[in-house]
Amino acid sequence: MSFDKKVTIAHLSDLHFASKNDRYLIARLDVMFAEFVRRRYDHLVMTGDLIDTASPVLWTIIRDALVRHGLFDWTKTTVIPGNHDLIDLEEEMRFYNALNPDDRSRQRRLDHRLRQFNAVFRPLISGDGGEAAGVPFVKVMRFGQIALSFVAVNTVDPWSGADNPLGARGSVSHETLKALREPNVRQALDESFVIGLCHHAYKVYGTGMLVDQAFDWTMEFKNRDEYLGAMKGLGAKLVLHGHFHRFQVYQVGGMDFINGGSFRYSPERYGELTIGANGRWSHRFVNLALKR
Ligand SMILES: [Fe+2]
Ligand SMILES: [Fe+2]
Repeated sequence: MSFDKKVTIAHLSDLHFASKNDRYLIARLDVMFAEFVRRRYDHLVMTGDLIDTASPVLWTIIRDALVRHGLFDWTKTTVIPGNHDLIDLEEEMRFYNALNPDDRSRQRRLDHRLRQFNAVFRPLISGDGGEAAGVPFVKVMRFGQIALSFVAVNTVDPWSGADNPLGARGSVSHETLKALREPNVRQALDESFVIGLCHHAYKVYGTGMLVDQAFDWTMEFKNRDEYLGAMKGLGAKLVLHGHFHRFQVYQVGGMDFINGGSFRYSPERYGELTIGANGRWSHRFVNLALKR
């Protein structure tokens, strides 16, 4: 393989596959994956909202496309879920009971979906097929002389009529933050180039609507500063995310965040990250010239 001096990563986010009959988008995904193989990226990362309506059968569109291109492999691809993978708004409305606003079943439904997500994508989460493997996870890989690790967390919060009306507000759980502080995690990442993966955006994006509040709180990453602290504690160099469909690189408190935009709305565009053996890295967004 070609990765003695640098590692290259392709980053997609927010694919939002909504139907098995979405031939246009599936064809575009095939073009994109074929291009990744042709350009010999060492790894592909997808940061959530793979599908639109939390229907597990739709994940198989992505899985099957990865399989077709030889990318459904722990060493080649890493995926995490987004709110659209784990929350079905219609279902939540069906179960909604205004007299019981703290219904625990919402968390149970979310946990159940996360287990389904883990089952479909487990070969990408665990190199040895460990049955308990799931999000959150840490993945350490070696590409020639470069060790690269991903710290992947779930930031999806359960739906709530009052606090999370679109299911798009998120956070990292206290259990996950606690786990990330365990000394053995820091040890496992030692000497590697650490990249955080989460779905929600650190950056607070405005909606541009005067009638709205100063920012769109319904999409907010609630404990983003705790997350940032945890990533800094692990020596992460950057964080890849999605959720707010905008291609963008920005910096907060010495950490670089890369928003991978949305494949569904810009199926010709993706992020390309290059990491050198000296720990230096660069990033650019690439536009494929698509044949019509
Ligand atoms: Fe999205
Ligand atoms: Fe999202």
